[in-house]
Amino acid sequence: MRYLEMEPSHIGGVKKLLDMCFDSSAWSESMIRSQLEKPCSYCTIAEECGDIIAYLAYEQIADEGSIIEVAVHPDYRRQGIARELINSALHNSEGLSEVFLEVRESNISARALYESLGFEELSVRADYYDDPKENAVIMRKIYENSGN
Ligand SMILES: CC(C)(COP(=O)(O)OP(=O)(O)OC[C@H]1O[C@@H](n2cnc3c(N)ncnc32)[C@H](O)[C@@H]1OP(=O)(O)O)[C@@H](O)C(=O)NCCC(=O)NCCS
Repeated sequence: MRYLEMEPSHIGGVKKLLDMCFDSSAWSESMIRSQLEKPCSYCTIAEECGDIIAYLAYEQIADEGSIIEVAVHPDYRRQGIARELINSALHNSEGLSEVFLEVRESNISARALYESLGFEELSVRADYYDDPKENAVIMRKIYENSGN
């Protein structure tokens, strides 16, 4: 398996992966492309035998990071791949004070992943998601040198 910085040629493979991981709420190809093209965005993938089996979209603006999207192919879960993608994105970020993310309240595996990486629940946004309607849990990780 290889971890790579995402390129435009990976968009189709990422789309296939997200369709598998997110049902009706999966991003379209144009959303994946716009995320890749944002100047503040850092997208990485994991590839196995030519297939894209994991994806991370991360952003940093000034001292604030955001985990935008993360997905791992069902056959490759619980092998530390999401943890590796997120840790290396955070490790490569300079001058971070805090990192935020939103997650569906019912997404127990993702919430466990983020907690294992030091994120803590900050607040709940009611009915934030559609299809199906659901609350979002906002999580935050604070960096010790941030002064917060
Ligand atoms: C959430 C997701 C990205 C996790 O990917 P993963 O590669 O399996 O996660 P990792 O193997 O790196 O897990 C790291 C830690 O997270 C926690 N974790 C991950 N999945 C878990 C699960 N199903 N149940 C409990 N804890 C879990 C564990 O603490 C785990 O460490 P451990 O295996 O040593 O116990 C994956 O399940 C997925 O793609 N889900 C569908 C898409 C999704 O919901 N994305 C998040 C949107 S906010």
